[in-house]
Amino acid sequence: MENKPGKFITFEGPDGSGKTAQLDILVDEFIQAGYPILRTREPGGTPIGDQIRATLLDLKNTAMIDRAEALLYQAARAQLVYEIIQPHLAKGGVVISDRYADSTLAYQGYGHQNTVASLEGIINYATGGLVPDLTILLDLAPEVGLQRRMDAGGFNRLDSYDIDFHHRVRTGYLELVQADPLRWVVVNADRPFGEVQTEIRSILQNYLNNWGY
Ligand code: TYD
Repeated sequence: MENKPGKFITFEGPDGSGKTAQLDILVDEFIQAGYPILRTREPGGTPIGDQIRATLLDLKNTAMIDRAEALLYQAARAQLVYEIIQPHLAKGGVVISDRYADSTLAYQGYGHQNTVASLEGIINYATGGLVPDLTILLDLAPEVGLQRRMDAGGFNRLDSYDIDFHHRVRTGYLELVQADPLRWVVVNADRPFGEVQTEIRSILQNYLNNWGY
């Protein structure tokens, strides 16, 4: 993808890893401090993407087949990249996204037992080849994450997949890290919220400073 003077940071992790709650606090802090950050999330982040999100996460959609699921995630992503992410990067800003293409590789790939290679084409088509500069993985055992989700009452269609699916997702993330270690930083999310937050804050601070923001 051309015209990318900005920096693109993504957060990944299993359901209930605390990404969203951490970003609620940290992104505001960095914006207050003057960093040109735009926050977004997947699936969704645009009016069209949010409609696709509702379809994807609806517990009533038990008939959804894996290929339809994979394509709907890419449709929402294409809309987000071209409508929101790319324009902010073109201005030299920083985009922080709660999930991105690695979620497709982890969930629709490893989770549904499809090869990474079989998904790369549709991901590339959706994103125009936009790859994050930094991806932070909040790593957590799926049992812990799903229990947190149940306690919080936000259980969705993907959460309802069986525990083996969620184990494959976690293993998948760790394999993606091994395949491209320079892009990823792994944070152990099975610790108190404040400790995890301190670690993420310092990672973000270091990268932003090194990039000259
Ligand atoms: P969400 O409620 O946003 O969960 P979280 O707070 O954990 O991000 O739901 C998003 C769900 O969609 C989550 O279960 C992961 C899944 N997902 C995929 O399966 N593939 C994808 O490409 C993306 C972006 C998300």
